Amino acid sequence: MKTVLSGIRPTGNLHIGNYFGALINFLKMQEENKCYFFIADWHSLTTHPDPSLLHVNVRNVLSEYLACGLDPEKATLYIQSDVPEIAELYLLLNMHAYLGELEKTVSFKEKARQNPNNVNAGLLTYPVLMATDILIHNADYVPVGKDQEQHLEMTRNYAQRFNHKYGVEYFKQPAAYNFGQELIKIPGLDGSGKMGKSEGNCIYLIDEPKVIEKKVKKALTDSGPAGLNAPKPDCIENLFTIMQTVSSPETLQHYNDLWNRAEIRYGDFKKQLAEDIINVTTPIRERIYDIKNDDAYLRKVTREGAEKARESASKTLKEVREIMGFKTF
Ligand code: TRP
Repeated sequence: MKTVLSGIRPTGNLHIGNYFGALINFLKMQEENKCYFFIADWHSLTTHPDPSLLHVNVRNVLSEYLACGLDPEKATLYIQSDVPEIAELYLLLNMHAYLGELEKTVSFKEKARQNPNNVNAGLLTYPVLMATDILIHNADYVPVGKDQEQHLEMTRNYAQRFNHKYGVEYFKQPAAYNFGQELIKIPGLDGSGKMGKSEGNCIYLIDEPKVIEKKVKKALTDSGPAGLNAPKPDCIENLFTIMQTVSSPETLQHYNDLWNRAEIRYGDFKKQLAEDIINVTTPIRERIYDIKNDDAYLRKVTREGAEKARESASKTLKEVREIMGFKTF
């Protein structure tokens, strides 16, 4: 059995791109692997240090994860800041992370450029904290998007460097978990690339039906097919991609045929698309609201999750301390 680990920063609500792109796969992964899914609230402090939002954001993502079907009985679901062992291992790994390589990290340079007044040390060592998250459970696989690949590469470096420095074969080299064929990339509603919360082109899992209808109605389209069997422009192709994930094969075929016969009416097409998105999200949205208001349940889930995560983390930390030469009197 392999160990799989994934973290998410609590900085906003989940959208259907997160759901079809990652969460659906997590549901399968948790059946077959030892999974750790956690909320990286310490990471979020590097850019969003607002005390009045932190807890709400954590509660939101946790409720959304649970509502999507992540199962605390099958996977270890926890909040990063509930596991103090991570902070200590982070301190230790920081001793082996060099300023030069940290300054060259793409995400650091980008964030530093966007926010020149808040280039803090936490931002600089973000990759070390992420490496700690992964190495503390000795994960085999980490499902990551393109933007996190460099961080995973650095994690492998730190693992190797640690092993080399202390002459041990202790940390594994975590690999990117490849969903292969199963990976669905949900495009945004604005004709551009991926759905992403920073692009403002999202349908959120908590969006009310009215909101979804409105967003889909406003999605970018063109003036219609140029003729029979015309190629689809990106904005239309994108809407078909979303339809492919939420609608029945018959519905998809129907609108494809209409497109090919140049008889498609975007109004009808969008109405159908909105309806099918609403069908998928409604049960999830209802569960999100139930869970979000269930303090007792959330307390139980986070306590038990922290306990399981700490068990694994403290074992690693104890071994790392020994390797590095710490001894008790
Ligand atoms: N950096 C990741 C992101 O921005 C979040 C994250 C933190 C993470 N620690 C992790 C992802 C460990 C995978 C493994 O999305």
